[in-house]
Amino acid sequence: SANTMWGGRFAEGPDAIMTAINASIGFDKRLYAQDIAGSRAHAAMLAATGILTDKDAEVIREGLLTVLSEIESGQFQFQTALEDIHLNVESRLTQIVGDAGKRLHTARSRNDQVAVDFRLWVRDQCDAAISGLTALMGAFVAQAEAGADWVMPGFTHLQTAQPVTWGHHMLAYVEMLARDRGRFIDARARMNECPLGAAALAGTSFPIDRHMTASALGFDRPTANSLDSVSDRDFALEFLGAASICAMHLSRFAEELVIWSSAQFRFVRLSDRWTTGSSIMPQKKNPDAAELLRAKLGRILGANVALFTVMKGLALTYSKDMQEDKEQVFDAADTLMLALAAMTGMVSDMNANREVLAQAAGSGFSTATDLADWLVRALGLPFREAHHVTGTLVAIAEKQGCDLPDLTLAQMQSVHAGITQDVFGVLGVQNSVNSRTSYGGTAPVRVREQIARWKAALA
Ligand code: ARG
Repeated sequence: SANTMWGGRFAEGPDAIMTAINASIGFDKRLYAQDIAGSRAHAAMLAATGILTDKDAEVIREGLLTVLSEIESGQFQFQTALEDIHLNVESRLTQIVGDAGKRLHTARSRNDQVAVDFRLWVRDQCDAAISGLTALMGAFVAQAEAGADWVMPGFTHLQTAQPVTWGHHMLAYVEMLARDRGRFIDARARMNECPLGAAALAGTSFPIDRHMTASALGFDRPTANSLDSVSDRDFALEFLGAASICAMHLSRFAEELVIWSSAQFRFVRLSDRWTTGSSIMPQKKNPDAAELLRAKLGRILGANVALFTVMKGLALTYSKDMQEDKEQVFDAADTLMLALAAMTGMVSDMNANREVLAQAAGSGFSTATDLADWLVRALGLPFREAHHVTGTLVAIAEKQGCDLPDLTLAQMQSVHAGITQDVFGVLGVQNSVNSRTSYGGTAPVRVREQIARWKAALA
């Protein structure tokens, strides 16, 4: 039979396969709370502007609360024939309250309805991401504080570069996560305009008050162009963009954890709570959570690409293509929140192996740059020349199978006669990190300043 919501011009109902491809209720039921909040604000506004009677608005309000409790208690019968959450709620409301329910859709379309519901949902997810990121930043700051002056190798190309401090490395992630948080904050501020009242696309001839609904739903203002209001999904794309960059950061630390927890590195020990064993190899403790976190970006970026591809080239205004927005964003948001929680747990629980880090910090000629810098400062060599002298000394040490501090003064002087005993003072790892006091540098004194700054910011 023809659809009860718009069946006027239809003689036949849809093909079963049409229903299967068209219906979104299977996933957009997740928007029920936002849909009901939007309808409540709309009904209250229709009464305040005299478009509905106060009596009808009150009946609608009560009815919507009943629908809400039916959904939340699991009694609500979602119907695929009713396509989506909007029609399911409205239809049930009308069953409960009668004619007043049929008046709710005055001066409204599902186009502005879905736009407002989805914005409200994505806005909540921005808030969840912001608090999840804040918690994770706190976990990294705590790690930084515990080992502000612990030395470890710093890498470029995953080859030993220069010694750095554990605290400094932890705070590098705090910087990344702070930018991520800023992106969610920015996106939230930009999306906080209310599309409700754009109606199908052109606005409405009813004397609605869009400022009233906007403020009832916590928006800063109504959107200014009705066409843009129903065709815009930038808010979802910005969320996915911020989520993708954030997940990329998580995947980088996840990769470091996988490397660092290996028997060959032993930089960190992951707790039992975030690892798994092997069904055959009794010795195994696998960093599964880290591996999965490394992979989650694939899903989140996939959602980002999928929605971009959906939106590309869509003529204004609403097209049903846009119904494809929700599953991607739902999955990406679920994935991100889980990833943030898992990373927070893993970072809080992990134990850095201070001795192993210190040992590794001093190997691989990590203080070669300090030696070259000393030649510049103490002997006045041009840096290029100092670089060459140091390189020659590294080659000698390498051939001899020892580290730079193990070379004798005589061996040093055979490469450059001006070298004195003082040079040994700069070859130690602790000296190396202590000396890097430039702003943003790895020296413990600088790291402690940054820890204090972050603790104040996160308090
Ligand atoms: N289920 C639809 C969506 O998710 C709601 C809007 C439908 N509007 C329409 N005119 N068919 O996009």
